[in-house]
Amino acid sequence: MCGIVGYVGYRDCSDVLVSALTKLEYRGYDSAGIAVFEDNKISVSKSKGKLKNLVEKMAEEGKPVGIAGIGHTRWATHGEPSDVNSHPHSGAKVTLVHNGIIENYKELKDFLVKQGREFLSDTDTEVVAQLLDYYYDIIKEPVKAIIETTQELRGSFALGIVFEDYPDMVYAIRRESPLIVGVGENENFIASDVPAIIKYTKDYYLLEHDEIAVLSKSGVKIFDIHYQPIVKELKTADWDADAVGKCGYPHYMIKEINEQPTAIKNTVLPRIKDGLPCLEECNITPEALKDINRIHIVACGSAMHSGMVGKYVIEDLARTPVIVDIASEFRYRNPIIGEGDLIIIISQSGETADSLEAMRLAKRKGAKTLAIVNVMGSTIAREADMLIYTHAGPEISVASTKAYMVQLAVMYLFAFEFAFAKGNITDEKYRYYTEKLLETPEMVEKVIAQTTEISQKISTKLLTADSLLYIGRGLDYALSMEGSLKLKEISYIHSESYAAGELKHGTISLITEDMPVIAVATQSSIYEKTVSNIKEVKARGAKVIMICQEGNDVPKDIADYVLKVPNFEEVLLPMLVCVPLQLIAYYTSVQRGNDVDQPRNLAKSVTVE
Ligand code: F6R
Repeated sequence: MCGIVGYVGYRDCSDVLVSALTKLEYRGYDSAGIAVFEDNKISVSKSKGKLKNLVEKMAEEGKPVGIAGIGHTRWATHGEPSDVNSHPHSGAKVTLVHNGIIENYKELKDFLVKQGREFLSDTDTEVVAQLLDYYYDIIKEPVKAIIETTQELRGSFALGIVFEDYPDMVYAIRRESPLIVGVGENENFIASDVPAIIKYTKDYYLLEHDEIAVLSKSGVKIFDIHYQPIVKELKTADWDADAVGKCGYPHYMIKEINEQPTAIKNTVLPRIKDGLPCLEECNITPEALKDINRIHIVACGSAMHSGMVGKYVIEDLARTPVIVDIASEFRYRNPIIGEGDLIIIISQSGETADSLEAMRLAKRKGAKTLAIVNVMGSTIAREADMLIYTHAGPEISVASTKAYMVQLAVMYLFAFEFAFAKGNITDEKYRYYTEKLLETPEMVEKVIAQTTEISQKISTKLLTADSLLYIGRGLDYALSMEGSLKLKEISYIHSESYAAGELKHGTISLITEDMPVIAVATQSSIYEKTVSNIKEVKARGAKVIMICQEGNDVPKDIADYVLKVPNFEEVLLPMLVCVPLQLIAYYTSVQRGNDVDQPRNLAKSVTVE
């Protein structure tokens, strides 16, 4: 989704804006632009396509030179990706960039057209620029004009604004869409996310809804919607510029796959006390857990898939029903939520519009909500009743890997503590599972080392496939959903995950020698059953790639490739087996020459529904 940056200080503003925007590229975008004060006039440069197009354009036409300005990467919503629809947008004296959607832009545009205003683009953002310009023309004071304007807007927005009469000042406001204010020495910033500014400063303010920031070189002032000054807590990021660099890896995705052992340690170790999970610091006590009779896990995409694994584990160990819901479905189907229900929302970004609204709906229905979130201070994190942060660090690649992995880790921490609180596992089992979870970083490291080469080999066999199937049963099925999503989103090869036992009820008719099947068979209790399903597809000509444990005795001739992971506690195997699934997707995408980290049409943080 769109990314916003702004700068005022002493450096070359165009360079700072472009450098900050590159760190927001992961959000997904289709055009970019900047506006910089040059000799007290606002100079705008924008271009369709990637940032390099903008840089090339500025090299040809001359880049704006100044020390204050705003910048934007656009993910098109209203109006196609084009130069003219790119941000910034301007009125006579106002130029701004916007992340979000203005729902009532049409009626506002009708009003402005009646006032004789002309529009150049199809965007909702230009309506905001013109409306702000309209009020500024009447009120002549930037903050008051911002207040007046935003009171008329319905929808979500984070705005970075410059006024021609106030050179070297940057203004910002947010509602729903994220925005932070970076605080440096003799320089200040705005950005959609911390990675954009981490090269310059680690200190920042998190803007809350309807808070307005006024930035000059020497300081930052923040006001509420009544124009009253507010004192805010200055936060400090606990990671540095390396965390948002590639550190020698060709892509963020492979860097992040390799960061998984550390991410698990960072997430699990602080939640272990006397050898057992302890989530009290997250507001979760064993007493409160005892009263939970049903769990809903609500999320989108990979985060929802981690919830699927959670379902199998929680139901198995804690004997409590778990319903997993796609957030966009949950929020519009009047879900049945009763006393004793816990709603778990899982989200890497903490800003996913559907997940956020699903959580708000659950709260309105009186349910207790627990959020599992990676981005500190994000909206879901702030609004949930209980919160467990995953500590994956910044995830830049659009395809989630390390964030999914630590979501799994938290699912296990929760499941073990919950199962024990419910009296369904013994103290001995509780300790055993926790010990095994603590071994996973080392095991994941081993799996990365052992499966990279074979995953690479397997991926060469998938390059020309039009479509493939992932199959499995139980936990293997839950995991195969993530494997399939990972492959399709970055390789652009269609794939589907299917419960292995369900194939013969229709889908098996698709099987030919042209449809590879990736079969996950790691669970002993159902191993033979999955093997029978593998035989069924093999008999119909499919090329089979089978993933199982080292100890499994794989019958001859049922698989073209067998990829084995070390024997381990089976409940925890999804944390190991997801690694080769990630690697297969990664190498397939690389070999097809795709943009691995920024696959087409996708955005990292989906802040629109
Ligand atoms: C896929 C992927 C997405 C996200 C989904 C939810 O690799 O990353 O499917 O998992 O968009 O995003 P968050 O977790 O930020 O709510």
